[in-house]
Amino acid sequence: MSFTGKVAFITGAGSGIGRATAQLLASQGAKVAAADLRADTAGETAAAIVTAGGKAIGVGVNVSSKAEVSAAIERTVQEFGALDILINCAGIYPRALVVDIEESQWDQVIGTHLKGTFLCCQAAVKQMIRQKSGRIVNIVSGIALNGARRGSAYSAAKGGIMSFTKSLALEVREHNIMVNALSPGPTRTPMSSWGSAKPGDPSYAEMISQHPQGLKEPEQAAQYIATLAGPLFDNTTGRIMHF
Ligand SMILES: NC(=O)c1ccc[n+]([C@@H]2O[C@H](COP(=O)([O-])OP(=O)(O)OC[C@H]3O[C@@H](n4cnc5c(N)ncnc54)[C@H](O)[C@@H]3O)[C@@H](O)[C@H]2O)c1
Repeated sequence: MSFTGKVAFITGAGSGIGRATAQLLASQGAKVAAADLRADTAGETAAAIVTAGGKAIGVGVNVSSKAEVSAAIERTVQEFGALDILINCAGIYPRALVVDIEESQWDQVIGTHLKGTFLCCQAAVKQMIRQKSGRIVNIVSGIALNGARRGSAYSAAKGGIMSFTKSLALEVREHNIMVNALSPGPTRTPMSSWGSAKPGDPSYAEMISQHPQGLKEPEQAAQYIATLAGPLFDNTTGRIMHF
């Protein structure tokens, strides 16, 4: 797959799936804005891409701030001259029972995932409409459909992103902008509760009993994302792909 000449803005690119996606798209020719709340890790991703011969900038941004998101997208367009692809990978997953969860924590989870996805899509779509084309991949989770004990805010946010993806797809199809979502399945990243599980561990057996497809590496999730951002999805929009 080639992304030569494409400009991609990837949130959560300082870690896990976002970082793997930034590196994969860059290795296939994309110019990448690696965006993350942590400017240091975003910078590390960009530096690794540049060292490998690619083009990238690191961007510190809190996706739940409209002003910061607008400035980050603006900087990307100034630097690379366009915005073709948005990947919304930023996320947090603090666990708490509904009876215990603090209002501030609820707001932070919804703010990062649901509002963050909305704000990044809104800012990106304004540019993509000018370009008359664009690709957006939002990251959701099977937890949106199945629920999770101590994961109500996360599951509600991801369910909201699924609905939002479908509505946005309907609004921007006429501008040749495709909006899809990926549910990557359990993936070995700092966020995943299965992150340290290894074959042979009791926790690995428990994970397999719930997710027979097994624990993925972030590079595999990145391949799925690249597929949704690539030519196979040239005319496909509003889909939620579960892996
Ligand atoms: N790992 C899994 O098993 C799994 C499964 C399903 C879905 N997901 C989703 O995949 C996406 C990527 O998660 P990951 O597993 O790579 O996690 P991760 O913790 O490795 O990466 C998440 C990144 O998001 C950044 N971030 C957090 N809040 C932010 C904010 N307000 N603004 C900008 N950046 C922010 C973090 O700094 C971090 O670098 C998330 O949306 C997550 O919900 C992960």
